[in-house]
Amino acid sequence: TELLLRARILTFHDEPLNGETSAETFTYLEDGGLLIRDGKIIAMDEFAKLRAGDGRNVEVIDHHPHLIMPGFIDCHIHYPQMQVVGSYAGALMEWLDKYTFVEEQKFSNQGHPEKIGSAFFDELIRHGTTTAAAYCSVHKASVHSFFTEAHRRNMRMIAGKVMMDRNAPPGLLDTPQSGYDDSKALIADWHGKGRQLYAITPRFAPTSSPEQLEMSGTLVCEFPDMHVQTHLCENTAEIAFVAELFPWSRDYTNVYEHYGLLGPKTLLGHCIHLSDAEVSTIANSGSIAVFCPTSNLFIGSGLFDLARILASNIRNAIATDIGGGTSYSMLRTLDEGYKILNIQGQRYHPLRSFYQATLGNARALALEGIIGSFVTGAEADCIVLNARATPAMRVRMETVETLVEELMLMQTMGDDRTIAEVYIAGVAAKSTLPN
Ligand code: GUN
Ligand code: FE
Repeated sequence: TELLLRARILTFHDEPLNGETSAETFTYLEDGGLLIRDGKIIAMDEFAKLRAGDGRNVEVIDHHPHLIMPGFIDCHIHYPQMQVVGSYAGALMEWLDKYTFVEEQKFSNQGHPEKIGSAFFDELIRHGTTTAAAYCSVHKASVHSFFTEAHRRNMRMIAGKVMMDRNAPPGLLDTPQSGYDDSKALIADWHGKGRQLYAITPRFAPTSSPEQLEMSGTLVCEFPDMHVQTHLCENTAEIAFVAELFPWSRDYTNVYEHYGLLGPKTLLGHCIHLSDAEVSTIANSGSIAVFCPTSNLFIGSGLFDLARILASNIRNAIATDIGGGTSYSMLRTLDEGYKILNIQGQRYHPLRSFYQATLGNARALALEGIIGSFVTGAEADCIVLNARATPAMRVRMETVETLVEELMLMQTMGDDRTIAEVYIAGVAAKSTLPN
């Protein structure tokens, strides 16, 4: 049996760099149909054309007047930080020491990862996020609980065990050898199982010894197609600490470069305070700079310079960075991103921001054609957006005339209430959540 979703439909084919004048970069259907079979997109067209098929067994669900889009993708989130969000702290290092490193130790406790796991994926679904690149804790159990839950829900997820062997509490440290062995065991258990993908995850240079970064590089050599995720140049004190720890390095980026950790599957969280030399190293490596707006504001890290990243041909992505970030919502994230760029005199057209949260992030993860758009054969992760989700949005919608204005409104005023329904591989997942 097939599922035919009927609604207004928006999907991107390319980055609308010039906003509304880039009409060929997206498809918008007023009365669209999305035909789904076995969890995949079979066709997208005018509803009337899809309907006129033969005597197939098709269930039609009409979501008008809402808007269907590919599910949101979050390119940087911390699974063990649900109970860190909103911690009162100063800058990054204090925030890590006082709250985050304390909280993550709980993931060695029996039952804790499982308890958080269920809540975590409920929250992603509630906010319309269907794929995420996630950091787990240093403990293998946290990765097992993450993937077990993602696999049970059939969600496409990327995650890895954080490797960290110094400058953190003893309860959070592995060793170069155990970090390597545990990562390999987790790869064997989870990478490619259903929709799950493993990411090699050295937390960041300050918490890894040279030996550990070396062994992370060995993992990258052994699994050249695997994602790598880490943090880079988020905070000035962090950068000074890296210079102290790696006195031979040209700069922070050079540390990752030296150990072979850069490349087209490498996600670099933050990338705020970069020198020109670092910008060209990152560009040449094909690595991805991940913009984490709510986190950068909350932890007070600085303003991501997207214009510079684009001008330097560095690939980019956008993400929540929960629990430094303050919302699971990619809508809230796009809104804060808009403000960070606006205050720097940079424009962020809503067509570009919604492109980024869907196809743009899929490209950053090298998953174009699999998620992030409604091309035939793609996995049917879709979200249904309601621009009239709150009384204030209803009033505002009275004066909204165009799709672009509606997107801007949902980005500015929207949150989990804006997400009317979520389909994971063609199965309704939000309306079936507990409470
Ligand atoms: N740098 C190293 N670890 C972290 C983390 O957990 N969150 C953020 N925002 N930055 C980091
Ligand atoms: Fe982070």
